[in-house]
Order: sequence, then structure tokens, then C-alpha cells
Amino acid sequence: MDSKNFQLGLLTALLDSSNGNLYSGQRGGPGFDVEAAMQARAIHGVLAALTMVVFFPLGSIAMRVIPGRHAIHVHAIAQMIAYVVYICAVGLGLYLVREVQIPGVGNLMDNPETNYHPIIGLVVLVALFLQPLFGVIHHAKFKKTGRRQIWSYLHIFNGRIFITLGIANGALGLYMARESKERKTAYIAVSGVIWGLWMASAAWGEFKKWRASKTALGRGGVFVVKSSKGEVRGSRNEM
Ligand code: HEM
Ligand code: HEM
Repeated sequence: MDSKNFQLGLLTALLDSSNGNLYSGQRGGPGFDVEAAMQARAIHGVLAALTMVVFFPLGSIAMRVIPGRHAIHVHAIAQMIAYVVYICAVGLGLYLVREVQIPGVGNLMDNPETNYHPIIGLVVLVALFLQPLFGVIHHAKFKKTGRRQIWSYLHIFNGRIFITLGIANGALGLYMARESKERKTAYIAVSGVIWGLWMASAAWGEFKKWRASKTALGRGGVFVVKSSKGEVRGSRNEM
């Protein structure tokens, strides 16, 4: 086995190597429980993929399709639950990084062939940590002015960009784990469909906002704020 194959999908390789040749030339076994690591990896993969591919996108779609004030409640609660599930997945990922040691190389994080997936996952964790803060500030300001401000755009685009990066990172995880072609194809197909529905709902939301701003004055749900900059139209509909 060449060194590249050895490093990528190390766990799969270890489990497959029933003849034990993998460590020929090394004294002792791998030094960690391969079965337990395989289990942790499978649970990590399922939890992380569910959060990025299903929960976060559905929570975002909810913001656009649920009518009225309930949208923000469903959205905020769903996204917070999804974030907690993601923390559990990251915990298992860190367990794998700590446990799985490649003789002569170190752990999966020390190795440039295998560290990009955990590093991207941690970047996504940190970026999304700020989401509730941006979301709450957006909501408080929106209630006063009826308009999006810098916090709104930070919340919306930080969310869209880093959830999308998280979805792509799941594909990298499957590649690293040397999963079957069928699983990789299924992951890409399901992610593509859900991501497409999410973007369609986002575009629909923007369109509704734009249409409301054109036709709003005089109809319910719109108000005018008088400030030093003149009159500013706002909407009560946060969508
Ligand atoms: C965007 C977030 C993430 C997603 C969607 C994700 C998804 C996945 C998936 C689908 C697998 C393959 C599981 C399998 O085939 O059984 C995997 C493997 C793995 N993930 Fe993640 N993951 C994410 C973040 C992380 C983080 C933050 C870490 C660690 C800090 C991590 C560490 C690992 C490791 C060590 C493996 C095993 C790779 C191997 O077998 O060589 N992942 N991940
Ligand atoms: C980890 C937690 C969160 C994530 C990942 C997240 C993600 C997102 C995303 C991606 C969007 C844009 C939806 C689209 O693509 O069209 C969005 C919109 C929104 N979020 Fe969150 N969110 C989170 C928490 C919250 C919280 C706690 C609140 C409020 C208390 C909130 C309030 C909103 C509002 C009001 C919008 C609509 C903004 C507008 O269209 O002007 N979010 N969120």
C-alpha cells in the first residue's frame, strides 16, 4: 500500500487489513481500538452530514416559507438545535483526531493529506457560533427600523456561505474515509437537491421583500420612520 492510500481512509484500511500486513515492520498494533474508531467515525459522519445537509438548510427554508411571526421562532429554535447536534459531531471528530495515530506521521491533523477536512469543519463551527448573536441583533434592530442593516447581511451571508462550505466538507469526509462510489454519489445528489431548494426559497424570499417594498406604502405591515436622513420606509414583515 503506498503512503497516500495508507493515510487516506486509514480506518477503512485498518479494518480491511485482516491479514495484519498494514503494520508490517512496526512493532505492536495500531495502538487504538479500530472498531470503536470506525463506530465513532460512522456516527460522526451521520450527525455532521445531517446537520449540514438537512437541518441547517431546512431551518433556513423555514424562515422563508412559514408565514407570519412563527417563522423566526421555528427558525431560531431549529438552527440552535442543529448547532448543538453539530457540536456533538465535532466532539466525535476531535476524538478521532486524538485517537487515530499514523505511525511515523502523527495524528490526522498533523498530516497535510488528512487535515483539511477537520480544519474546514472547525472553521465552520467558529463561523456559525456567531450566528445567534447576529440573528438576535438583526431582529432587535429590525423591530425598530423595519429594515435590514449590516447585522442582517452578516447573519444571512455568514450562514449561507458557511453552511454551504459545511456541505462540501461532508463530501471531503466521505472521500477521506474512502467511502463507496454509491455513498458519495447519494450524498452529492441529496445535498444538491436540498441546496437547490434552499437557494430557490432564498430567491423567493428576496423577491417577496422587493415586491413588498414597491407596493407597500398604504398597505398593512409597513411604516415610515422619520430621521435626520429623511423618511425611510420599513416593513414589519421580517420573512
Ligand atoms: C462540516 C462539518 C463536517 C462534516 C459534514 C463531516 C462529515 C464527515 C463524513 C461524512 C465522514 C465520513 C464518515 C464515514 O464514512 O464513516 C467524516 C470523516 C471524518 N471526519 Fe468529519 N465532518 C465534519 C467536520 C469534522 C470535524 C470538525 C472534524 C474534526 C475536528 C472531523 C473529523 C473527521 C475524521 C477524523 C474523519 C475520518 C477520516 C478517515 O477515515 O480518514 N470532521 N466526516
Ligand atoms: C446557528 C444558528 C443560526 C443559523 C445557522 C442561521 C442561519 C440563517 C440563514 C442561512 C439565514 C438566511 C436564510 C436564506 O438563505 O434565505 C437566516 C435568516 C434569518 N435568521 Fe438565522 N440563523 C441562526 C440563528 C438565528 C437566531 C437565533 C435568530 C433570531 C433570534 C435568527 C434570525 C433570523 C432572521 C430574522 C432571518 C431573516 C433575515 C432577513 O431575511 O432579513 N437566526 N438565518
